Amino acid sequence: MIIVESIEQLSHNPFKSPFALIPTMGNLHSGHINLLNLASNKNYNPVVSIFVNPLQFGPSEDLETYPRSLEQDLEILKEHNCHGVFVPKQEEILKNIENLIAPMSNKLCSKSRPGHFDGVITIVNRLFEVTKPEACVFGMKDFQQQLIIKHLIRQKKYEIEFLSAPTERDKNGLALSSRNNYLQEREKIEASVIFKSLSDMGSELKLLSQTNKKNFLTELESIQKKYTKKIEEQGFEIDYLELSDPETLEKFEFNSNRILIAIAVFFKKVRLIDNLVIDLASS
Ligand code: PAF
Repeated sequence: MIIVESIEQLSHNPFKSPFALIPTMGNLHSGHINLLNLASNKNYNPVVSIFVNPLQFGPSEDLETYPRSLEQDLEILKEHNCHGVFVPKQEEILKNIENLIAPMSNKLCSKSRPGHFDGVITIVNRLFEVTKPEACVFGMKDFQQQLIIKHLIRQKKYEIEFLSAPTERDKNGLALSSRNNYLQEREKIEASVIFKSLSDMGSELKLLSQTNKKNFLTELESIQKKYTKKIEEQGFEIDYLELSDPETLEKFEFNSNRILIAIAVFFKKVRLIDNLVIDLASS
C-alpha cells in the first residue's frame, strides 16, 4: 500500500492509474470498506484520503473530539488491499486554498449547519486538484453531500467519474457512521428506530401514491407530522424530517416519481442522519 503524506510526493504520480479517490475523515468502518470495494469492482485502484477537515465543523461542533485512529485505519486499509492512502498535513492542504460556496444552502443539513458544505467542497475540490483521480466514491448516507460534489464536478468540468455507494447498516438498520462511536451499544439499538421509521414511512407513501394519488400531497404532510411525533416520542430531537425531490432537494411536489425521505436527529447529543429514496411507481 502506497502511503503519501505530502503534495510534493503527489507530483511524482505515486498512484497507479486509473484510480478512484475515496475522501474520508478516518476512523474507518465497514461503510468505508464498501466504498473501497465499489472502486475495485469498477476496476479503479482505490486511494483513500484521511483528513479531518476543520472547515466543515461549526464553532460548537465536535472537531476536537472527532474520533481519530490513524494507526488502526492504515491497518484496516492494508487488510482490504487498498492501493494507496493520502494523509496530508493540515497546513499544506489549507495553504492558499480556494474557498468555495456550496449550492443548496437553504436545504436539509445546510439549514442547521451553515457553512458546513462550503467547508466540504472546499476540501474535496483541493483533494481533487492535488490527487487528480479518474473517479471518486461517496456514500449515499450523505445524500446532500453527494449532490453537492456532483455539482462541483460539473461546475469545474472535472473528468472524474462519480461512484455512489449504498448506505451500509448494522444488523438493526442503523446507518454506519463514525459518530455512532459516541453511542453505547444499547443506544445504537434504540437508534435503529430512525431507519425503521423511514422504511415504514416509505411503505406508507408508496401505498398512498398508488391508492389515493389525488390527495397525495395533502396526505404527505400528515404522514410527515405523524412520524415526526412518533420519533420524538422515543427520545429523539428532530432537526429535520423532510420529503423532497431527490434531484433538487426542493419540497416534493410530484414532479417525479422518486421521493427522498431525509432525516437528521439528535440522540444523546449525537447528530445522526439517514435517508431513503422511494420509487413510487415501482410495485
Ligand atoms: O464525508 C466525509 O467524511 C467528509 O465530508 C469528506 C467528504 C471526507 C470531506 O471532508
